[in-house]
Amino acid sequence: MRPFRLDGGNSTLLLLQRDDGMPEIVHWGDRLPAALDLDKVAHLRDRAPRHNGLDEDHVEAALMPTLGTGTMRAPGLLASRGGVDWTASFEQVTVQQGAGALRLTAEDPLAGLGLDIILTSPPDGDILRMRTRLRNDGAAPLQVAWLAAGVFVLPAEAGELLVFDGRWGGEFAERRLALTSGLWASENRRGRSHDRFPGLIAGEPGFDEDRGLVHGVHLGWSGNHRTTAERLEDGRILIATGEWLHPGEVILGPGESLESPIAYASLSAHGLSGLSRHFHDGARRHVLRWPEGAMRPRPVTLNTWEGNYFDHDHDRLLAQARAAVALGIERFVLDDGWMAGRDDARAGLGDWRPDPNKYPRGLGPLIDAVTGMGLEFGLWVEPEMVNPDSDLYRAHPDAVLHVEGRPLLTSRHQLILDLTRPEIAEGVFAQLDTLLRAHPIAYLKWDMNRDFVAAGDVRGRPAYRAHLLATWALMARLREAHPALEIESCASGGARADFGILRNTQRIWTSDCTDALERLAIQRGFSRFLPPELMGAHVAASPNHQTGRRHSLDFRAAVALFGHMGVELDPTLLDEAEAASLTAWIALHKRLRSLLHAGRHQAGAAVAGRSVRGVVSDDRRHAAYLVAQERREAWRPPPLALPGLDPEQRYRLHAPPPQRLDARLSPAQRALFGEGLSLPGALLGSAGIALPEMQPESALILELTADD
Ligand code: GLA
Repeated sequence: MRPFRLDGGNSTLLLLQRDDGMPEIVHWGDRLPAALDLDKVAHLRDRAPRHNGLDEDHVEAALMPTLGTGTMRAPGLLASRGGVDWTASFEQVTVQQGAGALRLTAEDPLAGLGLDIILTSPPDGDILRMRTRLRNDGAAPLQVAWLAAGVFVLPAEAGELLVFDGRWGGEFAERRLALTSGLWASENRRGRSHDRFPGLIAGEPGFDEDRGLVHGVHLGWSGNHRTTAERLEDGRILIATGEWLHPGEVILGPGESLESPIAYASLSAHGLSGLSRHFHDGARRHVLRWPEGAMRPRPVTLNTWEGNYFDHDHDRLLAQARAAVALGIERFVLDDGWMAGRDDARAGLGDWRPDPNKYPRGLGPLIDAVTGMGLEFGLWVEPEMVNPDSDLYRAHPDAVLHVEGRPLLTSRHQLILDLTRPEIAEGVFAQLDTLLRAHPIAYLKWDMNRDFVAAGDVRGRPAYRAHLLATWALMARLREAHPALEIESCASGGARADFGILRNTQRIWTSDCTDALERLAIQRGFSRFLPPELMGAHVAASPNHQTGRRHSLDFRAAVALFGHMGVELDPTLLDEAEAASLTAWIALHKRLRSLLHAGRHQAGAAVAGRSVRGVVSDDRRHAAYLVAQERREAWRPPPLALPGLDPEQRYRLHAPPPQRLDARLSPAQRALFGEGLSLPGALLGSAGIALPEMQPESALILELTADD
């Protein structure tokens, strides 16, 4: 038996290979000592065959479990050649150990399969990546129903799952489940996902924001996916994640391969906050690709949607842009409604030219005026879609994904273009490229507003996977042609939020729900895997357009402050006091954003309806927290402990302007809103500070700076 190890900063994956077979996962957990003597490690898994089982012991926690090898739990591969070659056994597995990488190459001559598994773990990070590639080495086509991208084994104690469901306007909804026995699965078949974020967290019972051993798995894929957690016979838990395929979606011809998306995995001994830090760090270092190689300060945005909807008026938009400049806003994003015939959702998609009534001289005058004010200009597009009421569709009614003979089911009055056809992708590229060449457009808000239904290509075969890959390729091509361009992944808010799409996008529109109270929960779920600088968070009008709730400007601004902040209302309608307050909030965001968008995520457990989450700089000399009173409960909130501070450090703690509180304040509490308090980090982190009593649906930003 041969051991192979892969180390991250704080974790080790240890594999054991019997003979030349598929390696078994022996340990995925805390980092093992570097000088570990692995000589007799085989003894760890040297078991007698179990009673009433096969006469030879077999590997249950294989890196790629397959049918026909004795494993009875969910296989990582389901494929056949018209009903034969459905078993797979990889007996000749070569493992190459590279720096921070293990590469496995395997063959099954009997089934005519080739398999590569690539595992990487950057030594400076804590994210393990796994991807698989299946090759058809046989003479006849191979129908693939399932290929896991990642398979991970967790200890038996990790039976408490934190999973995500939700809906449009309520994305990233967290649920806790106990995996007592059997299999839990989450499958997404709609081609995007408001309700099935492709991620899973599992940990020891009672894990919390800053306590307990937790494991997280995420699939970098914006399309259909399947994630399972299943108890093995000995209680350990097998997690598998990969793309969910429709029947016939992948048929490999001889010599052809299927490459899986990348599965990302991490673990943390410090609860959910620690896990989030690993994923945020992984996204920052190894996923995001910023124009010119580095993130620049995230420009505060005015998005025109909720302030105008489809009703575009040049003069009013300019007045809004002027008001935006006065507020300190830096980027103006012209949302939906600018295209020909786009007075509602029934027309305009597919013909990417300005509406002649709203923009008689094109977009040029607006863009020039806006950029002339010093704002960046961004434009909303939905390139994958077409309205039946469009010139494009009238000329090419066959250009949409469909299955011949089935009704074309519209959603939001739109159909999905078949981007897998090169000439259609080319046409979309040409239209967008023309716009980007004609105008200084720094940013595209790339929307995608419907689920896929019966999405067949020109041969009638399911094209979900191929469409997504074509979309990514289109984004990559636009970025190559326009290297300074940034793209936002929108998908009706939150339905395409993953490490896969982030290879080509720099912001995610988190949710169409802009209600600050709802946003606290949505942003909490989002932040488990994705860093705040990508999280579109807007100050919207009150009453809120989705829920009708009324919230103070302070609450709305505080909830938007930690993300990529924006404003989504008509700023000309703010009264003087509101405008002054919003200006101050934006100034606060700008002052803090280098901390908020680079620091370490840190949250505390929610108590008595009050939550706390924040960011601490790497050197722990600067920190900011969002304390939110989400609801009123019977208990008064206890003194608040601030997680993640340096216990050796003294801090000056204050609630920066423009915050004020209409509450009864003690002298020390009053000082919080003035010169601040000087307190030891050790006590702030443990005993905590008695905060003023806050009203439900209000928030407080606390800032701490090292007090030397
Ligand atoms: C989607 C987006 C919104 C807005 C509208 C425009 O719902 O998520 O932000 O752009 O489309 O139609």
